[in-house]
Amino acid sequence: MEKKQAAFRSCLQPASKVLVSCRGKGGEDNALVVAYCCNCSFDPPMVMVGIVPSRYSHRLIKESGCFVVNLVSGDNKALFDYMGSHSRRDGDKLKAFGAKLREGEKVDAPLLDDCPVNIECTVVDSIVTGSHEMFVGKVEQVHADARLVGEDGKIDFKSIDFV
Ligand SMILES: Cc1cc2nc3c(=O)[nH]c(=O)nc-3n(C[C@H](O)[C@H](O)[C@H](O)COP(=O)(O)O)c2cc1C
Repeated sequence: MEKKQAAFRSCLQPASKVLVSCRGKGGEDNALVVAYCCNCSFDPPMVMVGIVPSRYSHRLIKESGCFVVNLVSGDNKALFDYMGSHSRRDGDKLKAFGAKLREGEKVDAPLLDDCPVNIECTVVDSIVTGSHEMFVGKVEQVHADARLVGEDGKIDFKSIDFV
């Protein structure tokens, strides 16, 4: 196979993009699209999300010490596009879109109810890697569309039509 040097940026692809929802101390709810998201520990279960410090959500996550990772299917495409192209700095985009929210059970942040899987996380560490601050989140609760959860509790990820 012939090889050629390629672009370094975001060279791990495809990566499933998610919506991260959060809430500031003053009760401001928000969500943004995040491509920098991955599992980072099996035991205890932990995930990591990379947020650029200039994002409005960055301050909210710093303040609250928690966030929710919402997996996104094709049915959520309009929400995904809106959250990734608008900033809370210019107004309450969740309200403007009419996003359906549900209270977190374990963390003080909203879940995006129309997304098939919602992962509640508490920030246990963070690393500024360069352009992004990687927030390490301990998984506190996982909610999944009941139709996707098997007898063993495992999520049937193959049935999710990821964006
Ligand atoms: C496909 C896609 C991937 C993105 N990935 C990230 C990311 O990994 N980290 C990040 O901080 N912003 C990312 N963004 C940008 C934010 O979602 C976007 O700037 C958003 O409007 C920020 O909202 P906020 O200012 O209300 O927090 C991405 C946007 C898109 C469309």
